[in-house]
Amino acid sequence: LADVRDDLDRELISEREIVDKIAELCRAIERDYEGRRPLLVGVLKGAVMVMADLARELKLHVDMDWMAVSSYGKSTQSSGVVRILKDLDSDLAGRDVLIVEDIIDSGLTLSWLLGNLQSRGAASVKVCALLRKPDAAKVDVPVEYVGFDIPNEFVVGYGLDYAERYRNLRGIGVLAPHVYS
Ligand code: PRP
Ligand code: MN
Ligand code: MG
Repeated sequence: LADVRDDLDRELISEREIVDKIAELCRAIERDYEGRRPLLVGVLKGAVMVMADLARELKLHVDMDWMAVSSYGKSTQSSGVVRILKDLDSDLAGRDVLIVEDIIDSGLTLSWLLGNLQSRGAASVKVCALLRKPDAAKVDVPVEYVGFDIPNEFVVGYGLDYAERYRNLRGIGVLAPHVYS
């Protein structure tokens, strides 16, 4: 039986390390949002796993909503234009919004999203990202909560895909070159 894990070069972050990191992020979020009820905004589809685990670990009342955006294709240079494929159902006026992302790569998606959500009258808009690639950044985005800074390698698992595969891995690994070469 072929195992999806055979397509990985190595594991970068284990399931256990993710669980511990999410708990750590949640303690910080609970301190900062004490007595408030933030609206968690997950960015489909990569953020599904981190959203599910983060929301369940938080000892706060939260609302959850989702957005789907199409970023410029990964191979091409960014036009800076992001299109909304599925918008939020919620009104953001006066809300404390916390964007939940799996990874910040170039930062272009998030940079656009921050501006877009801020313009809707939210009381605050902050970002929680499990992963960030500092060496891939094309634009600096202020991120309040970061799980791990990782090297600029092709990572998959825990929501992150390559051609829509590997999202269902419990840990995060580096994709083996034989898969994409
Ligand atoms: C990935 C990832 C982030 C974004 C980061 O999403 O989940 O949302 O790219 O890239 P950036 O910092 O360079 O903008 P993708 O567009 O692959 O869609 P997906 O979440 O459905 O996989
Ligand atoms: Mn995504
Ligand atoms: Mg993707």
